Amino acid sequence: MTIGLFGFGVVGEGIYRVLYETPSLNASIKKICIKHPDKKRDAPEHLFTTDYNELLNDADINVIIELIDDADEAFKIVTSALRNKKHVVSANKKLIAEHLAELLYLQKEADVSFLYEAAVCGSIPVIRNLEEYYDNDLLQSICGIVNGSTNFILTKIAEEGLSYKEALLKAQQLGFAESNPALDVEGIDATNKLTILLAHAYGVIASPDELVHIGITRLSGRDAVYASEKDDRVKLTAQAHRLSNNKIAAFVLPQFVGEGSQLFNVKNEYNGVIIESKLADKQFLYGKGAGRYPTSSAVISDISALSYGYRYEYKKLNRSDHYTLANDYYLKVYVSFNELWEVSKWDFDEVHEFYNNAERNYLTGLIHIEKLKEASWFKNPAVSVVLLPNAIVEKESLVTSSLKKVSLQLAGVN
Ligand SMILES: NC(=O)c1ccc[n+]([C@@H]2O[C@H](COP(=O)([O-])OP(=O)(O)OC[C@H]3O[C@@H](n4cnc5c(N)ncnc54)[C@H](OP(=O)(O)O)[C@@H]3O)[C@@H](O)[C@H]2O)c1
Repeated sequence: MTIGLFGFGVVGEGIYRVLYETPSLNASIKKICIKHPDKKRDAPEHLFTTDYNELLNDADINVIIELIDDADEAFKIVTSALRNKKHVVSANKKLIAEHLAELLYLQKEADVSFLYEAAVCGSIPVIRNLEEYYDNDLLQSICGIVNGSTNFILTKIAEEGLSYKEALLKAQQLGFAESNPALDVEGIDATNKLTILLAHAYGVIASPDELVHIGITRLSGRDAVYASEKDDRVKLTAQAHRLSNNKIAAFVLPQFVGEGSQLFNVKNEYNGVIIESKLADKQFLYGKGAGRYPTSSAVISDISALSYGYRYEYKKLNRSDHYTLANDYYLKVYVSFNELWEVSKWDFDEVHEFYNNAERNYLTGLIHIEKLKEASWFKNPAVSVVLLPNAIVEKESLVTSSLKKVSLQLAGVN
């Protein structure tokens, strides 16, 4: 393989070093395209260029590795490379999630591979597992911590008492955070990753905008107090659940996680994904989700997969019983706020707890997903929303439990 590498940052330089030290892979880098030619690089000067075409139009280069931090430019690079019939490896979840349908079409047209294991959960081979191993019918849910920098920030705040700003700065210094940190802390990066997982787990091609998401910016001390009262930890989770009507409930939201969950001890930049299937029950994938070498390991694995002609088949896209996104289910949530008027309890189907004193106000209850999406307080940055454990309730089970309650009341049982 003769490689054209775009980007020489945290991951790009990592790939350069690993390939240099692993001659057995039989892959060599011919040219590296970067943005700022005057930056000092720890590699021979003749390798570098700022001209895309030196890589994209070089007939010797048969593999493009795209590792830049600008999704719009990455889109131009990746689509040109595919049109020029070059195999492509990328780690750019934003690019992939926002253009998945078009990229699927292009790779099929060009008859080349487009691999992106590093785009979701860094070093954890979750995409290839979902693509190859789990049969669609058996896959009940995926629930994971898929963003290393927010998990790092939440861990440092909870365990070392760092402020949000200090923890974010540390994540940036260690190379875990995106160049634009809003992508991480607003939950956008996790939503992009969930969009990719949906395609490989359930054959659902969705736009990231369609998925309900909030990040960690609204969490405050009062939520940490609630978590510690319950011996829980707050984690930012990306989830997809198959409901009984072949619909998929998918969202990115913070959740209180108890000691019984495998996610409880996923700390710092580590990621973890619980995959639940009908027969095997729960399985847990765990590993480093960010950083130079963990991310490089997934890119290297894709390069190695190219050497034996591997490509994603997207088998689940072609199933006859097509899954679509669900919009008719309920979530058990905790909502905390500053002023009582900020949140209307009439939006909830059930209110389980209501607490207010001089320091904190919160309620817990059951709310329909559409009501949650439409509620003005859901968009208010001063209001935090955190899922409770086992948060999903299907409409059918809610109706059954209400009927049971009524019939017990009629029978005189409390
Ligand atoms: N860091 C991680 O842990 C991690 C984990 C998973 C996935 N990723 C993904 O991997 C990709 C790279 O991330 P990173 O952390 O390595 O980024 P980074 O350290 O910020 O490096 C970005 C690189 O891209 C180059 N670049 C930017 N715009 C360019 C353009 N228009 N043309 C050519 N080169 C350009 C920069 O060039 P200069 O050097 O000249 O500035 C730099 O070398 C991103 O898509 C990111 O989401 C990163």
